Amino acid sequence: MQEKEIAIVTGAGRGIGLAAAKRLVEDGFHVVMVDVKADPLAENAEALKQSGASVEHHVLSITDREAVAAFIAALPRLDVLVNNAAVFWDGKFDEITEDDFRTMYDVNVVGTFVISQEAAKRMERGARIVNVASRAYLAGYAHAPYITSKAGTIGLTRAMAIDLAARGILVNAIAPGLIETEMFRSLTPERQQQLIALQPTRDVGQPEDIANGIAFFASPRTKNVTGQILTLDGGRSMGISLY
Ligand SMILES: NC(=O)c1ccc[n+]([C@@H]2O[C@H](COP(=O)([O-])OP(=O)(O)OC[C@H]3O[C@@H](n4cnc5c(N)ncnc54)[C@H](O)[C@@H]3O)[C@@H](O)[C@H]2O)c1
Repeated sequence: MQEKEIAIVTGAGRGIGLAAAKRLVEDGFHVVMVDVKADPLAENAEALKQSGASVEHHVLSITDREAVAAFIAALPRLDVLVNNAAVFWDGKFDEITEDDFRTMYDVNVVGTFVISQEAAKRMERGARIVNVASRAYLAGYAHAPYITSKAGTIGLTRAMAIDLAARGILVNAIAPGLIETEMFRSLTPERQQQLIALQPTRDVGQPEDIANGIAFFASPRTKNVTGQILTLDGGRSMGISLY
C-alpha cells in the first residue's frame, strides 16, 4: 500500500482549520492538527480518530521557532502545510494600540513565516504550502492590524512562491470573506448584519467552503499553479451590489 501523504493544518482546533483537517482526511492525507490551545483541539482530534480518521494532534504556537523546528523534524515526511492559524479582533484606527498591531503581525505573519521556513527544510519537490489570508487584505472598517497582517500574508505567499519554485514547492493562498466561525460570531449581531448586507450573495460562507479551496491547492493533482490567491467571499471583492 502507498504511504499516505502528510499534511499539517495549523489552527486546526476549531473553525476553518478543523474543517480543512476533516476534508484533507477525506482526501486521503494523514493530517497533523496543530493549535496553540489544547482545548478543543484534543477533543476534536480524538473524535476524528474515533471515527477512523488518520489524524494526530500537537499543541504548539507557530511563533515558537524552537518548538516548531523540533515538531517538524520529528515527522516522517511532509507534503502539505496549511497555514490557517491567526488571531483577529476589531478596533477603530484611533483606538487600537501598538500591542494590537504587534500581536496580530507576530502571529499572522511572523508565525506563518516561521513554520513555513521550517517546513520548507523538510519538503521535497511537489510539496504544497497553502496560506489562509483574508479578503480583508483589500480593505475593511476598523480592522487596521488585521488588514495589514493579511496583506502581509499575501506578500509572503508571493515571495515564498518565487523563492521556493526553484525547489518545486508550490505556495498559494485562499482569501476567505465572511465565514461563519467563532471569529465571525465574536462580532456584535449588528456588525454581523452590516457585513452580510455587503455581500452580493447576502450570505455568509461556511468553513467547509474554505476547506474546499484549501483542498484544491493541497491536492497532489494541482500542479503548475503557484503564487495565486483564490478569493472565496460571496463576491464581496467585486464591490457592493444593490438589488
Ligand atoms: N472566519 C472568517 O470570517 C474569516 C474570514 C477571512 C479569513 N479568515 C481566516 O481564516 C483562518 C481561520 O479562521 P477561523 O475563523 O477558523 O478562526 P478561529 O479563531 O476560529 O480559529 C483560529 C485558530 O488558530 C489558533 N491559533 C491562534 N494563534 C495560534 C498560534 N500562535 N499557533 C497555533 N494556533 C494558533 C486558535 O487557537 C484557533 O483555534 C484565519 O487565518 C483567519 O484569519 C477567517
